[in-house]
Amino acid sequence: MVVDACHTAEPPLIDVDGSPEHHAACIRTGEIAATASEGAEAAAEIFGAEVVEEPEIAKVPREQRKTVLELDHLVKEYAVNKGVVFKRRVGTVHAVAGISFDIREGETLGLVGESGCGKTTTLMEILGLERPMSGEISVLGTNVSSLDSKRRKEIRRDMSVVFQDPMASLDPRLTINDVIAEPMQVHGYGKDEINRRVPELMRLVGLRPEQLSRYPGEFSGGQRQRIGIARALALEPKLVVLDEPVSALDVSIQAGVINLLEELKSKLGLAYLFVAHDLSVVRHIADRVAVMYLGKIVEIGEVDSVFDAPRHPYTQALLSAIPIPDPVKERQRERILLTGDLPSPANPPSGCRFRTRCFLHASLPPEKQRTCIELEPPREAQAADHEAACHFAQIRQVL
Ligand SMILES: Nc1ncnc2c1ncn2[C@@H]1O[C@H](COP(=O)(O)OP(=O)(O)OP(=O)(O)O)[C@@H](O)[C@H]1O
Ligand code: SF4
Ligand SMILES: [Mg+2]
Repeated sequence: MVVDACHTAEPPLIDVDGSPEHHAACIRTGEIAATASEGAEAAAEIFGAEVVEEPEIAKVPREQRKTVLELDHLVKEYAVNKGVVFKRRVGTVHAVAGISFDIREGETLGLVGESGCGKTTTLMEILGLERPMSGEISVLGTNVSSLDSKRRKEIRRDMSVVFQDPMASLDPRLTINDVIAEPMQVHGYGKDEINRRVPELMRLVGLRPEQLSRYPGEFSGGQRQRIGIARALALEPKLVVLDEPVSALDVSIQAGVINLLEELKSKLGLAYLFVAHDLSVVRHIADRVAVMYLGKIVEIGEVDSVFDAPRHPYTQALLSAIPIPDPVKERQRERILLTGDLPSPANPPSGCRFRTRCFLHASLPPEKQRTCIELEPPREAQAADHEAACHFAQIRQVL
């Protein structure tokens, strides 16, 4: 952001936004503050950044876009075994207990929920492209249960994955060139094409092609995640599945990787399934969000609708824990603390799975409580593109 005037003298501390309590030693402080109201173009000019155009596909209404991924009552269970030599089955972990959602072209669905709620299991079921135990998975309009091996390989090209830990997911013995080239070799790309595309992919993710002969261990965490993204984009996928892609990175580096993902989405028209713990990240990057609890989706819909007016008590509790960058509101608002431990997915509560920790349930009269205990709440429409699974779903004044 440096300009000629910066070379002349040490900048004094200037009031920020006319506030006597906030000063900054930068002569462009006022201009920076003004970007908040002047929009993206003005901000891009000051920060020397590029304005990323909204992709064409974003202008097409959701219902008219192609479906890239559809899950219909997907179920995944794991056997719980006992004994070392003679194993016997003593129970079942209901890791994913019948979930449904779809992702349309050029769209990001954020999948959130506590540790162990079944997010990674869901992703693995999708990536496996095998017939699920129960329910259905369709990728780009094809039901995966009916795939022959040729078609399965074709679909693998259209879908790629980025993992949480960029160190563990890159083979340390391969150079970056080989890491990025590998998927193209597997899919029979010619040598010339690979040699042309690898440097192109490096530039696309903001890295220098001169670094291609280096090994993963010679890069920082954020750079390694960029390499992972370059590899994921090698086959020009339509859907990218990301399992906590930024949670292992520093906050400042997180922002860089998230901006990169957004830029790629609009340049390449990608759809993302984005798993994250951090709800602020999800609000920033997702178009729609699905909240999972113990293997079920409890709330799903357009991201602003869900974040601004959550209807399910679990979502309300999760959102009440996000810090608000306004000290007055932050001090006034009420934080909802969930009591009790997360029940085991091997033995989920009857009726509504959330009832053992639900503050709304605890405040209900006994006959209504009985409904929560006996009947599993169905997912019901709350607003346009917004559904929640709670018998007593309602907007709560959190602030
Ligand atoms: N191979 C397995 N065998 C038995 N149980 C498993 C297996 N993999 C996962 N689970 C169980 O399934 C449940 C869901 O696990 P999963 O890894 O999908 O959670 P997650 O939502 O991704 O959690 P995190 O946020 O910690 O990554 C957990 O209770 C877990 O213990
Ligand atoms: S159905 Fe009952 S227990 Fe479940 S979230 Fe709603 S109020 Fe709480
Ligand atoms: Mg996980």
